[in-house]
Amino acid sequence: MDSMGALRRTHNCNQLGTDNLDQEVTLMGWVLRRRDHGGVIFIDLRDRWGITQVVFNPEINPDVHAKAHQVRSEWVLAVKGKVERRPGDMANPKLKTGEIEVLVDELHILNTSETPPFPLDEETEVSDNLRLQYRYLDLRRPEMADKLIMRHRAVQAVRNYLSDNNFLEIETPMLTRSTPEGARDYLVPSRVNAGKFYALPQSPQLFKQMLMMSGMDRYFQIVRCFRDEDLRADRQPEFTQIDMELSFVGEDDIITISEGMIKDVFKKTRDIDLKPPFKRMTYDEAMARFGTDRPDTRFGFELTNLTETLRGCGFKVFNSIIDKGGSVKAINAKGCATFSRKDLDNLTEYAGRFGARGMAWIKIKEDQWQSPITKFFTDDEIAAMGKVLEAEPGDLILFGADDTAIVNQVLAELRLELARRLNLVDNETFDFLWITDFPLVEFDTDRNRHSAVHHPFTAPCEEHLDLLESDPGKVKSRAYDLVLNGNEIGGGSIRIHSPEIQERVLKVLGIDKQEADDKFGFLLRALQFGAPPHGGIAFGVDRLLMILTGSDSIRDVIAFPKTQKATCPLTEAPASVARKQLTELHLRPDWKEE
Ligand code: AMO
Ligand code: AMP
Repeated sequence: MDSMGALRRTHNCNQLGTDNLDQEVTLMGWVLRRRDHGGVIFIDLRDRWGITQVVFNPEINPDVHAKAHQVRSEWVLAVKGKVERRPGDMANPKLKTGEIEVLVDELHILNTSETPPFPLDEETEVSDNLRLQYRYLDLRRPEMADKLIMRHRAVQAVRNYLSDNNFLEIETPMLTRSTPEGARDYLVPSRVNAGKFYALPQSPQLFKQMLMMSGMDRYFQIVRCFRDEDLRADRQPEFTQIDMELSFVGEDDIITISEGMIKDVFKKTRDIDLKPPFKRMTYDEAMARFGTDRPDTRFGFELTNLTETLRGCGFKVFNSIIDKGGSVKAINAKGCATFSRKDLDNLTEYAGRFGARGMAWIKIKEDQWQSPITKFFTDDEIAAMGKVLEAEPGDLILFGADDTAIVNQVLAELRLELARRLNLVDNETFDFLWITDFPLVEFDTDRNRHSAVHHPFTAPCEEHLDLLESDPGKVKSRAYDLVLNGNEIGGGSIRIHSPEIQERVLKVLGIDKQEADDKFGFLLRALQFGAPPHGGIAFGVDRLLMILTGSDSIRDVIAFPKTQKATCPLTEAPASVARKQLTELHLRPDWKEE
């Protein structure tokens, strides 16, 4: 192995072109691949910026050529040599440096490498676990490095935009008390306060509100949040928010600031010119038309409510559900009457995963409606259904019947599945949609009480304040979400700044004075000292970057993410600790030490 000594790079591996011909240059990087062509050795040298081809010719420098013979993939080299034009037919238009190569007359092997556990130079399918175990190698792959580079640019654009708009970047504690975002907390035992625990923040919600009470007026933070919930492709136990809060504002101010920020991010990362204002839709409309509060509106297949059309119909399954207060809704899958029996069985199985007890269907043929259930309906019922569904020959109607919430969930998922099967989504379309007018509370049947749809500090709509105690389910809130291609990328609200209204809302949520004082008395106290009207929003950086980079999972845009089971295969966290550490923390484990 050679020392780097005083040797320094003159260029990176993506820099040289025909402007540099005949220059003497020094490059450093990793061996992506090595090829031997009739004695001449070609190495693709790679660094964060790109790739440059370096050449070892035995006729020009036999010693250096001999040394290059030992070199293997992922060894670290420094090469010094002259920039030459590649012979005409050897140019590689796919590479930025594809017109030149460096003819090496000095080679330093700075480090060797074991054979990597997976190839880094091609799109080989590698198991996620292996990639995470050797994440530092995985990140050497240009497509992975590019994602981190894009993430840097996005975050940089956010910082600049918000700073330019009078926001202050302020840090808030990581060792704190439980915050009410609705997930389970990660707890940290206190050594110096026996039996007491900190919680890692699920978000800086209460601190950012108190910063408004401090007169900071506009706050932002690019901040890690921790939630112990079941993980999915778009959820990590720790994730990053662009978190902001503003004083003396209404919904439109926050929406406008957010749109400006997102526009800048798209321009600075992908050179895409978005045209705000983005579309808006109320929560009620989204649920009615798409069955979800984060609809992907890049394609149709909207839901049609047939509950009233089919009330009292001859099909017992539907009729009894309607009688019990449930819903019957359907999707008209235009042009899908060609689906085979097997396709339909697959879809039924898919619907079952989301709670469907069946998936009735009708194929609209030229001369008849083909289906196992048409025999249960009268001609009038069929005509009425055909009308509301705008059914035409060639269509396929898919039904969901159950409690309204289940029907919505099942049909919303079926809609997405149909779009995937028919390849209807274009990942280069960026479809933004604000969802507004969320309900303030929803009834939680498990706990037999209302819970906040957003969080307990979200302001109710002023016109609905009268209904707060008498009919809380009807009260709309001043919350909004930003949806991008069917993903919730941000959410926020105007907050309650009146102590009286805060108290009333907490009561509706079944949180009595004692519990409220216990959990966030400090915030309620702060409201007593001249809290300004305020509101804010938080965006999921990881989700935004997942979409910007066209990735399937937020793991791809996080340098060191966790698995579905919240583990890190690289560091093997979480790990056991010594009994002594536990006793120091006043924890008395009843499990055996390994
Ligand atoms: P909320 O809980 O909606 O709001 O979170 C804001 C945004 O954070 C992202 N997000 C996640 N991303 C990855 N993994 C997760 N586990 C995860 N959970 C949430 C989503 C979401 O839209 N304090 C409020 C904001 C406010 O009211 O200002 C809050 O945290 O993109
Ligand atoms: P059955 O009479 O139970 O054989 O059902 C007839 C058809 O209705 C089948 O295609 C079922 O998949 C469908 N079906 C049954 N229950 C439901 C439901 N809750 N929602 C939608 N379709 C259903």
